[in-house]
Amino acid sequence: MSADPLDLAAIRQDYARQELHEERCPASPVDLLHTWLQEAVLAKVLEPTAMNLATVSSDGRPSARMVLCKGVENGQIVFYSSYASRKGQQLASNPHAALTFFWPELERQVRLEGTVQPLDAAQSDAYFASRPYASRIGAWASLQSQPLSSKAELLLQASKWGLRYPFTVPRPAHWGGYALTPVLIEFWQGRPSRLHDRILYQHNTAEGWRTSRLYP
Ligand SMILES: Cc1cc2nc3c(=O)[nH]c(=O)nc-3n(C[C@H](O)[C@H](O)[C@H](O)COP(=O)(O)O)c2cc1C
Repeated sequence: MSADPLDLAAIRQDYARQELHEERCPASPVDLLHTWLQEAVLAKVLEPTAMNLATVSSDGRPSARMVLCKGVENGQIVFYSSYASRKGQQLASNPHAALTFFWPELERQVRLEGTVQPLDAAQSDAYFASRPYASRIGAWASLQSQPLSSKAELLLQASKWGLRYPFTVPRPAHWGGYALTPVLIEFWQGRPSRLHDRILYQHNTAEGWRTSRLYP
């Protein structure tokens, strides 16, 4: 193998910003997630709400992509997408999903696992109405995850839907919100020499949330 001028294996980052103490962790991991999201926003990291969403097809094959967290409400994590997209089809056949946040500037990762349900129509309507006009038109113009013949076709679809809805844009039935109800949330804080802090919260109906520390 020839020498790689871009030596990926030599890139090393040591982490030392903060520590994670179990005795300072709140009873609810959703409260801690909220705090970490707030700290990511205050630290002005790029896309503090971006999270990786992993879904699984009906034949057990995983796929992952980024989505934006649009709320942490009633113990659930909310995001929006097309129900007809690849992820939407996978969630319809298998509601089990995982989410991962990574804030490199804070040397923090949060992993969640749980089940995903569509939001009720009223909540999706309210969020859709708050989006900029062009994004609302985009939801009509995009058959998310379907093959697109050309970029021009997408622009044509956007102008077509713009003419159809010049002022008020209703929410398309194929577009709306999802809420993940977590049963597992793990907080990871980078530490020197790869001796990172990992605090795992697991939920069961009898005992609620229980915490444990994991080897890094
Ligand atoms: C930072 C970032 C944020 C994104 N946010 C969303 C989102 O909130 N909802 C969404 O449907 N797609 C979002 N996307 C696009 C998805 O990653 C993905 O391309 C799209 O949803 C289609 O995925 P699918 O074919 O697996 O359904 C985002 C992409 C990036 C890079």
